[in-house]
Amino acid sequence: MTARTEPPWWQRAVIYQVYPRSFQDDNGDGVGDLAGITRRLPYLHGLGVDAVWLAPIFRSPMRDFGYDISDYRDVDPLFGTLADLDALIAAAHGLGLRILLDFVPNHTSDEHPWFRYSRMSRESPKRDWYIWRDPAADGGPPNNWLSEFGGSAWELDPATGQYYYHAFLSAQPDLNWRNPQVVGAMHDVMRFWLRRGVDGFRVDVMWHLMKDDRFRDNPENPAYRHGMPPYRRLLPLYSADFDGVQDIVAGLRRVVDEFDDRLLIGEIYLPIERLVAYYGERLGGAHLPFNFTLLEAAWSAPEIARQVAAYEAALPLGGWPNWVLGNHDRPRVATRVGRAQARVAAMLLLTLRGTPTLYYGDELGMEQVKIPPDRVRDPWERNVPGFGLGRDGARTPMQWDAGRFSGFSMVEPWLPLTPDATVINVAVASADPGSLYNLCARLVRTRRRNAALQLGTLDAIAARGDVLLFVRAHGPSRTLVALNLGASPADLRVAGVRGHVLLACSARCEGETIDGRIRLAPADGLVIELAPDSQIPVGTASIG
Ligand code: NOJ
Repeated sequence: MTARTEPPWWQRAVIYQVYPRSFQDDNGDGVGDLAGITRRLPYLHGLGVDAVWLAPIFRSPMRDFGYDISDYRDVDPLFGTLADLDALIAAAHGLGLRILLDFVPNHTSDEHPWFRYSRMSRESPKRDWYIWRDPAADGGPPNNWLSEFGGSAWELDPATGQYYYHAFLSAQPDLNWRNPQVVGAMHDVMRFWLRRGVDGFRVDVMWHLMKDDRFRDNPENPAYRHGMPPYRRLLPLYSADFDGVQDIVAGLRRVVDEFDDRLLIGEIYLPIERLVAYYGERLGGAHLPFNFTLLEAAWSAPEIARQVAAYEAALPLGGWPNWVLGNHDRPRVATRVGRAQARVAAMLLLTLRGTPTLYYGDELGMEQVKIPPDRVRDPWERNVPGFGLGRDGARTPMQWDAGRFSGFSMVEPWLPLTPDATVINVAVASADPGSLYNLCARLVRTRRRNAALQLGTLDAIAARGDVLLFVRAHGPSRTLVALNLGASPADLRVAGVRGHVLLACSARCEGETIDGRIRLAPADGLVIELAPDSQIPVGTASIG
């Protein structure tokens, strides 16, 4: 074996998340499908992304829109057929795009044949594939564990007199990953798709895969306040991120490593110091434990500087960073930070050190859509109303053009379109050189050409007022990023800093020379190629 000289593709890549129900409807039923995604691949190629992660497209009763799988080895007819998926993978590969599937190992649908068999009797050979417990002495649930989607995490099966555990909906029973047969069966599912040519997986709720085998009660959360979602009442000490989960993750990684050049991403909502454990011992865990810092951070330069530095400092040696700006579970970034700052956010995402993941439509500035009560589809919102947990608003159809259904479908889509889809759409944005879309496309291209942005260290991150500054460096190539997170102009004296503007949020000053002073309009950002003799504006400590 020859030693690897090039970094793996996924360290250079930009990942794009497609929510298949909402990307492109090809068969006219108001729901997106695989043929629709295939038709739109040239758009993604044009944007310049390298890999596309598809949220679940497997057979499912769709109680949680595909995160409740009843057959891991087939495509749901709503989305098409296995042949459609093969065609999508082939077309993507033809364009140089990789395809990542969503792997949902923590739970199945209650309609999965494994669960049906498991619930048949206490003696079922598959009983132990799920987590069954006797009732407590009073006949109630075995312990106090809560479902994230509301109520107890235990559901009584009257026929057999035992409860089963479900971290999410009762229609999503948790698999028992302590059972080696479950492990073997799920590894085989991964191999099935890897052999079919998929380039890797995003693993759903990776940190949930192991729970306490003594089923101890979770402790009260001392920070719980009235108005917080009920799930937050307890700290999930015994039901998630539990001892042994890293062994399970290492097992998933070993399967991925049986194939060349595949990628394992973990969905993990944990504090940074716990998150980084998922890189695994000797980095034999997830290649990329998703870093959701930017989804939750307050939008201020000092706060982002602090959090980026904390994340970089926490990374294990050799752990490659990654950044996420939006996903199908969290409010749209353009709504979180505002339209103007969405441009700054895109520049931040695409200039930080590490693999970025862009959520479909965020490159247009699609906003969180207000969903009328009679059109709410999300089971979380339906089960736990009144806490603003609903995810439908971030899952609305892709806005392709100003047509009746935005070019998404020929019929009324499954979720409503926003009225501003007539102005915020691909057709308008791609024709406007100053659009967010074109900014993203230029950032992606610049990143690809610029070794410092793609692979360099991240140095000297700091905030000066509302301006966030950091340097990316790779060999002699050094790039300074200056982002104005505020609503007022900024004028910084940066003695000894010299270079020229490679890219600007407002494009106005591209090519201009920088010499000792950086001026930024409100919500503007600059990517500055530093001259060889330039100083850097703040600090010298190198991270990464
Ligand atoms: C995380 C997924 O991203 C979310 O959409 C889903 O509801 C839960 N996992 C349960 O699978």
